[in-house]
Amino acid sequence: MDSLTLTRPDDWHLHLRDGDALRAVLPDTARQFARAIVMPNLRPPVRSVADAAAYRQRILDALPPGLPFEPLMTLYLTDNTSADDIHHARASGFVHAVKYYPAGATTNSDSGVTDLQRCEAVFDALQDTGMPLLMHGEVTDPNVDIFDREAVFIERHLLRVAEQFPRLKIVLEHITTAQGAQFVAQSREGIGATITAHHLLLNRNAIFAGGLRPHAYCLPVLKRETHRQALVAAAISGNPKFFLGTDSAPHARHTKEADCGCAGLYTAHSAMALYAEAFEHAGALHRLEGFASFHGPDFYRLPRNQTQICLQREVWTVPAELPFGEATLVPMRAGESVAWRLSPAAV
Ligand code: DOR
Ligand code: ZN
Repeated sequence: MDSLTLTRPDDWHLHLRDGDALRAVLPDTARQFARAIVMPNLRPPVRSVADAAAYRQRILDALPPGLPFEPLMTLYLTDNTSADDIHHARASGFVHAVKYYPAGATTNSDSGVTDLQRCEAVFDALQDTGMPLLMHGEVTDPNVDIFDREAVFIERHLLRVAEQFPRLKIVLEHITTAQGAQFVAQSREGIGATITAHHLLLNRNAIFAGGLRPHAYCLPVLKRETHRQALVAAAISGNPKFFLGTDSAPHARHTKEADCGCAGLYTAHSAMALYAEAFEHAGALHRLEGFASFHGPDFYRLPRNQTQICLQREVWTVPAELPFGEATLVPMRAGESVAWRLSPAAV
């Protein structure tokens, strides 16, 4: 198969940043995806419907003319988010989910939740409105090994929240472990997971290949090969609980190549080509459309897209760096090849 036509996909987990950075990265996403769930971890975070409305407008203003794209906004859950905030968000029509970051877990997460028990009124309101709770599923306990933080989060917190709020829709974001995939596959209805292209294609050896590789560092951190294989199995299974979320997270080159480098891989420049590679390696290209274009809107109860994109089998070399406002960023596969390419002839 040398070309692949798919219902236009959506990205159910994306970091777009703001200002010049937003303008630099947004076209990469809008070329491939009709919609994206936009992460709220700006500085300061997107905490209110008014913040989300303003950010949404900045995104629309940053779109190149003629590229249709719908940002699906999220609110950043803090210790102070109220049930009223959730009802207000639902009524807005443009806020589609609430994002939970454990305080201190990752980039700009210091205003995150310090104790899940404080969120009970919010979880009740989410259940009532049907709006999903998007969870960065890692504990921040420094005594827990960084490679175990997702599995421990499931045991210590997620099992209890899922049971205590039986109608709460939960997306375990960017799963990285066999335990994450297994939890979601076995869980009740209303629990899903996003999977990134980088966690399907890389294992933790990539962080140490011939030296320390800051551009392969993200959170949750890449795991060992057996976990990567479990994620591939989940993604190609056809199970509608699993859907596409790139977690494309751009950082300026100098902030990753630093004493304390930022977490995040930039994959939006060739996201669909990277997913196509992963599915093709697994002999499952026929499962890509469900994962990329159907399972997400079905979970969020949004209509599936009506237009299509086309990918061609064509080996091309990713640039060594891309413009990023005043700085540059180093995309995944910088200076290396990708086996598929988005065709400009999208329908
Ligand atoms: O690698 C990551 N980068 N993980 C996150 O959870 C946040 C993201 C970012 O915003 O840079
Ligand atoms: Zn993220």
